[in-house]
Amino acid sequence: MANLIEKKLKELRDKISEHEYNYYVLAQPVISDYEFDQLVKELETLEKENPHLITPNSPTQRVGSDLTKEFNDIRHKSPMLSLTNSYNENELFEFDRRNREGLPGNEKVEYAVELKIDGASVSITYEKGLYNIAATRGDGVTGEEITNNVKTIRSLPLKLNEKIIEKYELHSFEVRGEIFMEVEAFRQLNKQREADGEKLFSNPRNLTAGTLKMQDPQIVASRPLDIFIYYLLSENEKLDSHFENLKLLKELGFKTNPESKLCSSIEEVVKYCREWETRRDELPYEIDGVVVKVNSLEQQRILGSIAKSPRWAIAYKFKAKQSKTKIAEINWQVGRTGAVTPVAHLEPVFLAGSTISRATLHNMEEIERKDIRVGDSVFIEKGGDVIPKVVSVILDERPAGSKPTEPPKNCPVCNAELISPEDEVAIYCVNALCGAQLKGKIEHFASRGAMDIEGLGTAAINTFVEKGFLNSYADIYSLEKYKNEIQELEGYGEKSYNKLIEGINKSKERPFAKVLFALGIRFVGAGAAVKLADHFLLLENLIKADEEEIESIPDIGPSISKSIKEFFSKEENQIIITKLKAAGLNFQAEKKVKTSSVFDGKTFVLTGTLPSMNREEAKDKIIRAGGKVVSSISKNTNYLLAGEKAGSKLTQAEKLDVKIIDEDEFKKILAESL
Ligand code: IVH
Repeated sequence: MANLIEKKLKELRDKISEHEYNYYVLAQPVISDYEFDQLVKELETLEKENPHLITPNSPTQRVGSDLTKEFNDIRHKSPMLSLTNSYNENELFEFDRRNREGLPGNEKVEYAVELKIDGASVSITYEKGLYNIAATRGDGVTGEEITNNVKTIRSLPLKLNEKIIEKYELHSFEVRGEIFMEVEAFRQLNKQREADGEKLFSNPRNLTAGTLKMQDPQIVASRPLDIFIYYLLSENEKLDSHFENLKLLKELGFKTNPESKLCSSIEEVVKYCREWETRRDELPYEIDGVVVKVNSLEQQRILGSIAKSPRWAIAYKFKAKQSKTKIAEINWQVGRTGAVTPVAHLEPVFLAGSTISRATLHNMEEIERKDIRVGDSVFIEKGGDVIPKVVSVILDERPAGSKPTEPPKNCPVCNAELISPEDEVAIYCVNALCGAQLKGKIEHFASRGAMDIEGLGTAAINTFVEKGFLNSYADIYSLEKYKNEIQELEGYGEKSYNKLIEGINKSKERPFAKVLFALGIRFVGAGAAVKLADHFLLLENLIKADEEEIESIPDIGPSISKSIKEFFSKEENQIIITKLKAAGLNFQAEKKVKTSSVFDGKTFVLTGTLPSMNREEAKDKIIRAGGKVVSSISKNTNYLLAGEKAGSKLTQAEKLDVKIIDEDEFKKILAESL
């Protein structure tokens, strides 16, 4: 019986894998979606009845339910190299000449050419034909483990063809490839986000990379990621060319790019590059160039690598796509720091997959340097972000009577007089009550890299500020006051209101470094916030610190320290911090500097007045020793540190059998254990 069930399970799994392959890799399904779903249901039922027979690589196990708490570091078996870039055809001829000179006999070199997919690279290991571990490229030497997230990609086989594994002795090997998202799928996702009032993703590549680092594999699975495999690392000596390897990868069941080609001369390579530079928009996914690889693995070995890139491969990068349009208007926008920046409103034009009607002009210096004026015909280009930039003005087409662009004297939103600091190119509105700054600050606070508040996107923030529900980002935590008003807003029902409150409450768990970044202190970026949080551990320590101590942290300079001091000296910010503390945000770091064996991981409650130290000092000592301070006693509290005039907490501690210590005992234990 058991054998029969096992046989049936294998049969179903193999069948499903085959249909997944037909659908996701070949894009040629041979059964209907309904028939496919029936097979999966059958397998699920059989597995439910025989849970001990579920294998991690069963097609039902693609989407795990566990959240990835931390992405572990993975050291790559051999470094994941990057490619030298070339931007013109001469550099390709130069590459070919170097290869011929570097090889014995100066002979002609054969090249494998491939599209350079604009996605995120990944390394995947297989053991005994089964999907094993996936890791990001990271710094090339060490990446992060994203096994569970990569497993959700349906075009990636979890179990390989056994016969071919045997034939090529591929018992343990690694493949590398590029994970990407098709442009149409990306657009659909953004359309949905726009409808939900959420911030848009900037491009398919960033969305792919971001998705791979998400904690919840269920969300990852809902984003249609795809993968092309372009590299096989195996110790099998029988394999002798890259192109043969690509064929083998295909035979094994991997999705390889169908446009790859073998070229017998560099002229042919150049032709391929030219062709794809003009045809790139025909593809359903984004490419940013062509990768040219010496085909013979033996020749690759002889040529070797320099520093971080192989000598035997080069990337031919396409020129950024440009479009021509006209500047209809130049507007000035106020950001969260009060910086007033120029934005060009354009006659709508199609560029790299979307219709563009705005371009950033950066600052006044840029406008003057390029002499950009209203009415000008210009070329625009997309950088890495959604908002493109103006590359150049077509002076010949400038309309008669056009005037140079002047900077504004007053804030376009609140009309306050603008200032232009001597050492900066930016101009600022310094009115703290300026509505535009407020929206920008709240948007930054709620953004993904900061408090990550789901449901609080640009549209919602604009409405809430305009309605007067939000006068600072601290007001986010008392939005519940406006429950009825919010639910009556257009597009808001009970469900979206609840989702918003859930997102707000969840943000209270964000770590101290994220909170510090969210405050929007000028010059304190996400990286600086981590360093500050690690060093000071408690917000109070940072507030108390002088500029010298702040600057003692590596990479933290005077502009940051000055800006921090300025921020906390302002009364309006002090009020905000008090409100955020009351809301329960994290103002203490989890990370400990020294670990005390006795206090490590222990929870403390403080009460009463201690003889020689104040509360903040005691709290600091506890955190540095690896402990945590909470405000109320529960049965999970390990210590009550009690001073004079300890009130009800003392009786509670006695009732719950929590160990009570005084300052002397606290100091003694600390001294002994550090
Ligand atoms: S080969 C030594 N082939 O481009 C081999 N890379 O800087 C290096 N990429 O990180 C990679 N398509 O993410 C290779 N067909 C392709 C590629 C490709 C995209 C990416 C890859 C790599 C970067 C090169």
